Amino acid sequence: MSEIDFFAPAIVRWQRQAGRHDLPWQNTRDPYRIWLSEIMLQQTQVATVLPYYQRFLQRFPDLPSVAAAPLEDVLTLWGGLGYYARGRNLHRCAQLIMAQHAGKFPATAAQLAQLPGIGRSTAAAIAAFAQGERAAILDGNVKRVLCRYFAITEDVFRAAGERALWELAERLLPASGVMAEYTQGMMDLGATLCTRRQPQCVACPLHAHCRARQENRQHLLPVPRIRQKRPERQASFLLLSDGQGILLERRPAQGIWGGLLAFPEAEAAIFLPKLGVEVLEVRPLPNLQHGFTHFVLQIAPQLCRIAAPPELVQEGAYCWLPLAAALDAGTPSPVRKLLAALPEILAQPAA
Ligand code: ADE
Repeated sequence: MSEIDFFAPAIVRWQRQAGRHDLPWQNTRDPYRIWLSEIMLQQTQVATVLPYYQRFLQRFPDLPSVAAAPLEDVLTLWGGLGYYARGRNLHRCAQLIMAQHAGKFPATAAQLAQLPGIGRSTAAAIAAFAQGERAAILDGNVKRVLCRYFAITEDVFRAAGERALWELAERLLPASGVMAEYTQGMMDLGATLCTRRQPQCVACPLHAHCRARQENRQHLLPVPRIRQKRPERQASFLLLSDGQGILLERRPAQGIWGGLLAFPEAEAAIFLPKLGVEVLEVRPLPNLQHGFTHFVLQIAPQLCRIAAPPELVQEGAYCWLPLAAALDAGTPSPVRKLLAALPEILAQPAA
């Protein structure tokens, strides 16, 4: 049997026996639940997603409830999942399906891929799980499985290599009728056996035909992507607090962290006099680094302890929140980290 013919039946058989069967987004054909899980699972592991998924469904049990909610509510529930563009796109996608598809998810992968936040692989996953469509997925895990199985040494993180993998992924698809098992099997294999480090080849259903395994090169594949050194940008965060509350600012919809609450980014010497409150202490805090795809943000946070909440907070994008409420709001991850550390920072006496 050729390595191509062997592949899909082995994956399906293994998924039935040894794959995951009780994840909360399995055993349903409801495209809303499947879509939500696939968006949350982009760049995020199952264990992290589980509590967010359940909380989100409790608050938004269906597509109309997401579409009708303010974006801030969606981002708040997105909480610590990160990559907030996903939350914004999710909201936009829900509104678009309500407006242009009469509230019904499009049925095919090709149509789904037209919607915000749904790339080719996510569209295929949703269509395979919800409709049984023969559509190939190609996420990071699947890339790893294919590179090893066929001992591909090309850089599959660049366009040409990725195109070749898509073609291969399409050729490997099983006949209709087992697409949910096959798709889940590909995900499960990459997540549980064909892992980046220490793959468990002995237990792998593809073991007999895996070229990397035969050549004992599984740990060398896929060839890692060559990352350019990212440029740095600077930001100064002002943590304005009276010990009870904290000043946050809603960021503009466009740009990084669009629509999220964050600390004002300003020079203390310019910003503080505008507030008209007594400043008790200004203390630089240890720097923080946050990586984006195309740059690294070097953050210089400063604690500004003030005597009372400022008047300015009633204006525009500013809001004054109790510390606990701020932790529950939709904030970018470095802001959350600082908010979590704030009680301890505030407990330290002024120098
Ligand atoms: N990663 C992406 N989609 C997934 C799914 N449906 N189950 C488990 N892990 C996944």
